[in-house]
Amino acid sequence: MPNQSSPTRYGAVAQAFHWLIAALVVTQFVLANLADDLPIGVHKLALLARHKSFGMTVLMLAILRLLWRLKHQPPELPAGMKPVERMLARSTHIAFYVLLFAMPLSGWLMSSAKNYSVSWFGLFTWPNLIGKNEAAFEVLRSTHHILSDVLFVIAVLHILAALKHHFWNKDDVLLRMLPFTKARSTSSEKQS
Ligand code: HEM
Ligand code: HEM
Repeated sequence: MPNQSSPTRYGAVAQAFHWLIAALVVTQFVLANLADDLPIGVHKLALLARHKSFGMTVLMLAILRLLWRLKHQPPELPAGMKPVERMLARSTHIAFYVLLFAMPLSGWLMSSAKNYSVSWFGLFTWPNLIGKNEAAFEVLRSTHHILSDVLFVIAVLHILAALKHHFWNKDDVLLRMLPFTKARSTSSEKQS
């Protein structure tokens, strides 16, 4: 049964974090894949510089989002969900939070190991986390690539699950993460 004291929708701040970070993650994949197709040169480096800047933005937003999340209870999952579905939903959300830190940190460490600078849109330069180390670079590069594959798979499953809730189960799971929408079941809602 839903806990009466818990909110029934994600609040505006939680929604803003969700959709801003989701858009940045998609941007990251687009930039990385565009850069991947290019030969080494100015254009590739410019795309990777942007990839690093947006990636560091994700790290900063992930810190703020996690702090916000620890202070604000999310809405309960629908009462009819099976235990295995609840476990999958929770595991996916935890994996996302881990990856929103692990992706930028592995990228930052990878660039540091190659002694490549990580600037934030040309405004300032982040310090290198480790010294130049070719072996560490190779390990971190593989880690970044493998984690990006894991993130991709989880994101696809997450999106399919959201669409299943909306179109198959016809519950409020997607609507309560969308701004400017009303719940199907109730119109008097508390927000988190
Ligand atoms: C949410 C954050 C991030 C995501 C989702 C992400 C995703 C990706 C993806 C999908 C690739 C291509 C992997 C492949 O070729 O298979 C990539 C490559 C790369 N990323 Fe990131 N990244 C993120 C953050 C960062 C950050 C913060 C940095 C550095 C500060 C960084 C540096 C790089 C570099 C240098 C490459 C190219 C590596 C190579 O030459 O193979 N990334 N990233
Ligand atoms: C790749 C980008 C995305 C990431 C990293 C991401 C991450 C997350 C995370 C971490 C949560 C848990 C929020 C919390 O309780 O703190 C969440 C919830 C949610 N996401 Fe995403 N998401 C992404 C894309 C999407 C997309 C494209 C959709 C829609 C099709 C979507 C729909 C939802 C919904 C409906 C919830 C609420 C689930 C619930 O109420 O339990 N997400 N997302």
